[in-house]
Amino acid sequence: MKTYRLRSECFGATIYDPRKQEYFFVNTEQAEALKMLPMSQADVSNLNNCYSTKLSDDISNGKFAELLSVLQQKTAKLDVIPTKYPLPLDSLTSPIRVYFEISLMCNGSCTYCLNSSGHVRPNALTTDEMLLIIDQLGKDGVFETRLTGGEPTMYPEFELLARSVREHNMTLSINSNLVVNESTLNTLIDLHPDLLITSLDAEKTAHTKYRGKGYDLIVRNIHLLRKANINTRLNCMLSPESLPHIERFINEFAPAGLGFCFILSRPAGRGQQGFSPPSLSEMIPVMDMLEQKRKEFPQTYFNTSFHVIMERELTIGGVNLTGCNAIQKSFNVNSDGAILPCAFLYELDPERFTLGNIRDSQCSYSVLPIWRESELLRTLRQQSAQCNIRCINCVQFKHGCLGSCIYMSLYSQICNAPDPYCRKSIDAFS
Ligand SMILES: C[S@@+](CC[C@H](N)C(=O)[O-])C[C@H]1O[C@@H](n2cnc3c(N)ncnc32)[C@H](O)[C@@H]1O
Ligand code: SF4
Ligand code: SF4
Repeated sequence: MKTYRLRSECFGATIYDPRKQEYFFVNTEQAEALKMLPMSQADVSNLNNCYSTKLSDDISNGKFAELLSVLQQKTAKLDVIPTKYPLPLDSLTSPIRVYFEISLMCNGSCTYCLNSSGHVRPNALTTDEMLLIIDQLGKDGVFETRLTGGEPTMYPEFELLARSVREHNMTLSINSNLVVNESTLNTLIDLHPDLLITSLDAEKTAHTKYRGKGYDLIVRNIHLLRKANINTRLNCMLSPESLPHIERFINEFAPAGLGFCFILSRPAGRGQQGFSPPSLSEMIPVMDMLEQKRKEFPQTYFNTSFHVIMERELTIGGVNLTGCNAIQKSFNVNSDGAILPCAFLYELDPERFTLGNIRDSQCSYSVLPIWRESELLRTLRQQSAQCNIRCINCVQFKHGCLGSCIYMSLYSQICNAPDPYCRKSIDAFS
């Protein structure tokens, strides 16, 4: 039976679908109604009538009524996650997803690698510490833990950590380059993560230029994962070389049930050297083509880095969620325990953008004290919202430009270089 998860928020609750990794918000009245289920059919009709006549109150955009209906029909159930009170009034209760870098070891040496992977960080967390962190993430009401790196499957206790995420009732997602042997692939298949994200840069020559050998092996492994019915997604970097192949790439892999995320290269880590992404004029027609593909393959997951830019402001109660997901809704923990608002920002200036260390006595292996109380994070959340609002109010938005993010804006200021994803910035520097 399908299960949804409910976590209380200061404005009501977040409802999370672990299978699809999707979520929506409900207000306090709706949250209380859900917690009181089952209720009589007359009460359900009353609630639905109430929200269809007062649509402005329905922050779920109709999803509450759908959920209520499946719960009443008993085709789905709802898990209420215990939360730590008092709830914060200016942010979500805890991150929706935590990116947990379990090791910076890597068998790859991608030229654009954002965190210059390929070594073990000094003072790396032990396996026991990482198990403690996972235990705490579960208790803190985090919905999804994404094991990443480096190449997480290279960490000797990878399987133990992955199983622990499951045991703590969190959605398990894994970022792996899939340049792995049969035994590691079988481990991944046995784990059956809720989501496996790998990297494939659209076409063999483009992929090899930036990521090195492995294209054919990755494709073989992707098909084996799909054969085992594992929800698998392809991260594809938008480079001058990959861009002409995107349509063929989608046509090849969408029918096999793969999802896609088209990523804008960020000048971080090794990716700062020789940073030369495609121009906006080259990318915009490809983004238009993607919208067509969305219609052609309605069951397929499509996302791009451009889609993190919201088209309108989103404030619920006192919580302003406008801006980058990384800062408003998710968190990063590095393999040395550093807690970051955004992996890219950390690479730009580790001292300035580290929020704390999960080993600190203030944290005791929990992300919550920093998530709820960090003044730096508060400031970054405001800046991220302002950055998004600047795009919403810009005449170029959705015409000659698709919007840019707080990382690119700060990179441009700190490195005194243009943000190639922002028309205004390009003009200011030319
Ligand atoms: C850091 S890797 C870790 C997981 C695994 N090693 C892999 O490559 O898939 C996670 C994702 O970050 C993406 N990435 C790496 N460097 C980047 C950069 N400079 N800008 C944007 N994304 C980047 C990769 O393409 C990959 O899909
Ligand atoms: S992008 Fe992934 S595979 Fe490539 S070097 Fe970085 S961590 Fe390794
Ligand atoms: S030109 Fe700059 S400010 Fe305007 S929409 Fe593009 S990224 Fe945003």
